[in-house]
Amino acid sequence: MLADRSAERVKRAHSQSQEIRVPQRLAAQLEQFKVDLDRVTSEEALYDLQVAYLGKKGSITALKAEMGKIPPADRKAFGAAWNSARDSIDAALATRRQFLKDEARRRDLARRVDLTMPPLRPPPGTLHPLAQTRRRLSESFMRLGFDVAVGPHVESGRYNFDDLNMPSDHPARDMADTFFVSPPAGREGDELVLRTHTSPVQVRTMRSQTPPIRIIAPGTTFRRDDDATHSPMFHQIEGLYVDRGVTMADLKATLMAFTADFFGQALEVRLRPSFFPFVEPGAEFDLACPFCSQRGCNLCKHTGFIELGGCGMVHPAVFEACGVDSERYTGWAFGFGIDRMAMMLHQVPHLRLMFEGDVRFLEQFPC
Ligand code: FA5
Repeated sequence: MLADRSAERVKRAHSQSQEIRVPQRLAAQLEQFKVDLDRVTSEEALYDLQVAYLGKKGSITALKAEMGKIPPADRKAFGAAWNSARDSIDAALATRRQFLKDEARRRDLARRVDLTMPPLRPPPGTLHPLAQTRRRLSESFMRLGFDVAVGPHVESGRYNFDDLNMPSDHPARDMADTFFVSPPAGREGDELVLRTHTSPVQVRTMRSQTPPIRIIAPGTTFRRDDDATHSPMFHQIEGLYVDRGVTMADLKATLMAFTADFFGQALEVRLRPSFFPFVEPGAEFDLACPFCSQRGCNLCKHTGFIELGGCGMVHPAVFEACGVDSERYTGWAFGFGIDRMAMMLHQVPHLRLMFEGDVRFLEQFPC
């Protein structure tokens, strides 16, 4: 009996202390809020503070739920105190928010931007020396009235060899032993190669156009070669002129006009008899060395002439394969290496430098 009474007393004392603590805790929370508010330096942190005190699970919100622990007579006063605490927190938050906004704006306005300072642009880069050379070559020939034609890198054996008078048993085909490509499904019978020269563009052009034809065809070519002046991937430029009464004299005159335009000086062009299955007669053409005026230098190997490429009159068998009437038309063609030309122009000792993509090498050729 005695024990029951004492337990009752303890319970009442505890509940009275809770009643007293609710208003005190409200005051303590309000004090703590002021301290926390002073530390807030960003709008994000301010939002977090608002949630911590007035959010659904906020500490001030939680105190309201404890209203039932307060004696009924004191509840009204506590309610008023709670409302006033919430309002003062709300007002303090709004004031602080405005202050932070003003501060941010003040900082923004105080920022000194020098609008006259040139921007730090990344360097624009340059065209690859081979692309520069190819463009210059094309421009020279376009000034002479040639159009630019293109063909695919993966070419049919027919256009790369057969129609150029190199049937499969022709010995010249061995010299062009090359990279063969597996034909796609459905074209199993086709022979596909990475083109060994730009001459198949001759075939494609004559098959699709009627004379007069006057084209150049610069592009990438592939062979099983690899040394200081030979690369497995290289570039050539092809020339083709087909019309009535075209002669070898036109070829030589065109090559001379081209070299004069390209090198900026009239240079002797030398034709030496040579063999290519797709021309007859055929020749190698050399150019009087533009670098030493034929006195002899490393570039011309002290011969006074620089070998450029092959040329000749289009073979009647090629005309026939391409559907051009060889009784009515004649034509000439030439082909030479762009990479060697670029090597000469820039005095580059090894062809591989052109393909390694080393920026230290490439940035020496601003365009
Ligand atoms: C031909 O490719 C003939 N199609 C050129 C031609 C066209 C003759 C029209 C007649 C009529 P040739 O194999 O000689 O010819 O190559 C021509 C040039 O390409 C060479 O003089 C050389 O400058 C360049 N060349 C050949 N192979 C390579 C290689 N592996 N790397 C770099 N350049 C090469």
